[in-house]
Parts: sequence; C-alpha cells; structure tokens
Amino acid sequence: MAMSPASRKSLVVLNGGSRRGPGRVWLVGAGPGDPELLTIKALNALRSADVIVHDGLVSPEILELAPVKARRISVAKRRAHHSYGQDEINRMLVAFAEEGLEVVRLKGGDPFIFGRGGEELEACRDAGVSCIVVPGVTSALAAAAAAGAPLTHRGVAQAVTFVTGHARNEEIPNLDWPALARSNQTVVIYMGLAQAQTIAAQLLSRGRDPKTPALIVENASRADERRLVTTLSGLASVAAVLEGPALLMVGEAMALARSEGVAEPTKAAPPATALSARGLQ
Ligand SMILES: C[S@@+](CC[C@H](N)C(=O)[O-])C[C@H]1O[C@@H](n2cnc3c(N)ncnc32)[C@H](O)[C@@H]1O
Repeated sequence: MAMSPASRKSLVVLNGGSRRGPGRVWLVGAGPGDPELLTIKALNALRSADVIVHDGLVSPEILELAPVKARRISVAKRRAHHSYGQDEINRMLVAFAEEGLEVVRLKGGDPFIFGRGGEELEACRDAGVSCIVVPGVTSALAAAAAAGAPLTHRGVAQAVTFVTGHARNEEIPNLDWPALARSNQTVVIYMGLAQAQTIAAQLLSRGRDPKTPALIVENASRADERRLVTTLSGLASVAAVLEGPALLMVGEAMALARSEGVAEPTKAAPPATALSARGLQ
C-alpha cells in the first residue's frame, strides 16, 4: 500500500533491525490497568520487546515492566483525534517487524474486544509478518469481578452481551435494542458514557424495567477505581458525573454489586474510594 508523505513523516524510524531473523508482532492484551491482571505470557512478551507500540489505556506501571532499552511509542487517542491513524499504526507494526524487531503492540484489556486488534492482525497477515495474539483480561470482567457482580448468574442472568455505545457523529448506536431490552441477561456497554442517556432511553422504550439494577465502573482495577451502583432509570444521571474510561452494566445480577471494595487488591495502594450513586438518582 502506498504511503502518503504525511504518513511517512509521522512514522517512527527505529534502526535496530537486521541483527537476527525476521521480526514478529506480538498483539498483547495489557488488561484493565492493574499489573497483577497481566498474563504471564504478556509479561514475557513485554520483557523481550525491542519496541512497544501502546495505547493510552495502558497503565504506566505496566510499561515499566518492559526493558529500559525498549523503545516506547504511544499511539494514544487524544481528545477527538488519534495521534496516528489506524493505517499508520498497521504500517508501523509491519515496518518494525520487517526490520527484524520484536514488536509488542500493547492494548488495554483484550486486543479483540473493541480494540481494533483484528485489523492489525490482518495487516500483519497481508504483509507476511508473523503475529502472535496474547489475550488480556477485558475491562468488563475485571470491573464485574471486583464489584462482586457476576455477569451471568443462575436463574437471573442467562446471557451476557458486550456492546459498544460509541456511534459516529453522536448517532444512536445501531444495536438490536429489542433483544438487549429482554430480562434475565446482562448488557455491558463499552464506550457508553457519552451516550448513556440514549442507551437507557432505548432500553426503557423497549420495555426493560426502570428498576433493573445497573453498575458503572470507572477506571476498573486502577487505584482511582469508582463503582457506582444505580438502576437503569438512574444510569444517565450517574454517567453524567464521570469522565471515564467506564463501563455501564445493566441487568438483574448487578443487584449483587457492592460499591465498597469486594476484592481487596494485593498492591500497596488502597482501594479507590467507592462512591455509591444511589443518592444521585
Ligand atoms: C476502545 S475500548 C477498548 C476495550 C479494551 N480492549 C478491553 O478489552 O477492555 C475502550 C473502552 O473500554 C472500557 N475500558 C477500558 N479500560 C477500562 C477500565 N480500566 N475501566 C473501565 N472501563 C474501561 C471503556 O468503556 C473504554 O471507553
């Protein structure tokens, strides 16, 4: 694929290749933030990295686990725009691997859950570059576990669905709302803060009970984690006070959620001050 002058200018050139065989791309899930939720395989990949291309959601504590000599390149999304477009990131990964480097593409949570990891894998495949995918703990699993709120629960939540609340041009996400509004299931919304009002309205208008328990978790597994226990009818007003990253979780099993620490982290930092949002409804 031809590279525009602008793309070429913004690509980073590393001159460390040709010292061994062909390089590889490791598409690694960094988990939700707590380094203890990193897999051993992810840690090993980080330790052998020549270059790390990482998202903004990857915590600094995790980046510190990589060798000092490994070059770190942030491709974080800043406000409304990306520092690098997806095509540029794809080309960067391929170019580094073709230089013979061990490239770790480090992404928050799991690379294949709303992470565009599939596009990066395809780019490597198209270029004939070896790409190894290392799964990560997706943020929803960490958020629900820490709050003691099972995403499935016998007799109460027989299914769990992960959806994106992000829609281009502020439009309503194109989802199967009637299916999502059925009872006895948990709906987890990633990137849903800005559209919380619309999402709640869609579920309510399709018949979901306004008293359906809901949980919002901001900065899951991080020192500043906040858990907010509410209901579907209170979802939008609670979401309005948060900045994210956050997950919205709606379903009967969220009645088990506790805003106070359920799973005490083993790290030195105390658990985040949990804020019950019942009073905000
Ligand atoms: C582009 S998606 C990436 C999801 C990621 N691949 C994963 O598996 O968690 C970004 C969204 O994930 C959610 N998210 C990621 N990390 C989070 C965290 N530590 N706490 C709460 N939500 C998080 C938020 O909804 C955020 O807007």
